[in-house]
Amino acid sequence: MDDLRDKYIKLIADAGDESTLEDLRVQAVGKKGEISLQMRELGKMSAEERQVMGPRLNALKDEINSALAAKREALADAALDERLRGEWLDVTLPARGRRAGTIHPISQVTEEVTAIFADMGFAVAEGPQVESDWHNFDALNIPGHHPARAEMDTFYMHRAEGDERPPHVLRTHTSPVQIRSMELQGAPIRVICPGRVYRADYDQTHTPMFHQVEGLALDTDISMANLKWTLEEFVKAFFEVDDVELRFRASHFPFTEPSAEVDIRCSWEGGQLKVGEGDDWLEILGSGMVHPNVLRAGGINPNVHQGFAFGMGIDRLAMLKYGIPDLRAFFDSDLRWLRHYGFASLDVPTLHGGLSR
Ligand code: DAH
Repeated sequence: MDDLRDKYIKLIADAGDESTLEDLRVQAVGKKGEISLQMRELGKMSAEERQVMGPRLNALKDEINSALAAKREALADAALDERLRGEWLDVTLPARGRRAGTIHPISQVTEEVTAIFADMGFAVAEGPQVESDWHNFDALNIPGHHPARAEMDTFYMHRAEGDERPPHVLRTHTSPVQIRSMELQGAPIRVICPGRVYRADYDQTHTPMFHQVEGLALDTDISMANLKWTLEEFVKAFFEVDDVELRFRASHFPFTEPSAEVDIRCSWEGGQLKVGEGDDWLEILGSGMVHPNVLRAGGINPNVHQGFAFGMGIDRLAMLKYGIPDLRAFFDSDLRWLRHYGFASLDVPTLHGGLSR
């Protein structure tokens, strides 16, 4: 019986696969297997012999069975390991170097402008980009027949068939936020309104979507002198120069009376803009004293309150300050451009910490 045991334990240990194991099982403990045949012999033995041999044969059968089970499990584990080795796949991508995002020049300049005017007591107001034509035009003293309506290359929204109401527009300027701010807050008020505006125009200095910032200050004793001072302070702070000369050129806007376009003294020596010196003038904004009709449209009594307004292009300010030649590149989402012209994300512009460093 010991020989039998040693033989099968060794054969089981050496078995290389599942089917060899199964053959061994049949040979040893199958119906006609060696151990089973031995068990059949028990019947021919004397009672004493049987009492010794019976338990020994049973123990041997159990031992063989558990050796088979253990080997079967070991083979399955090995097969799984083998398969895992064979099917191994590198699902990682080679890592790209870590690169921080940058702040877009438009966001940067918006923050700079906001910081400067916040320091002068202006809050930020916002309005919808899809605007009623009343807010965008009529309330700003631009009636239906006015040429300014046509000049603005307006995008009109679609109205359902049969809906006779005038269509909404993509706002063509930030001036409607003046009206919305008056409606909401009344006077006195000091707000700037930065945001997106839309006109059907496209070339090196025009894109169909661009950015403006509007300013509005109303009180009981505001004059053109306050407008001048405010804009001078703004331009000095924005261009980070100690002195600038502004030129107020008489102009016309429907929403202001009188109206002025503002130029700053500059030089373009060597193709580089220098603000505050030289013999050139650079137009940077439109402004004026808010027209009484506009005040009335905003629910303000023009006999009590009056004030100034101004509007300028944020994109244009960014191009001038940071020497960016083509406006269209602002909206191409070209990472190389963003890395070149973008700003470090944690350098928030403040007046005390420096606007652009
Ligand atoms: N809304 C004008 C534009 O889009 C800019 C402007 C001019 C705004 C004069 C004003 C202003 O508030 O007083 O071109």
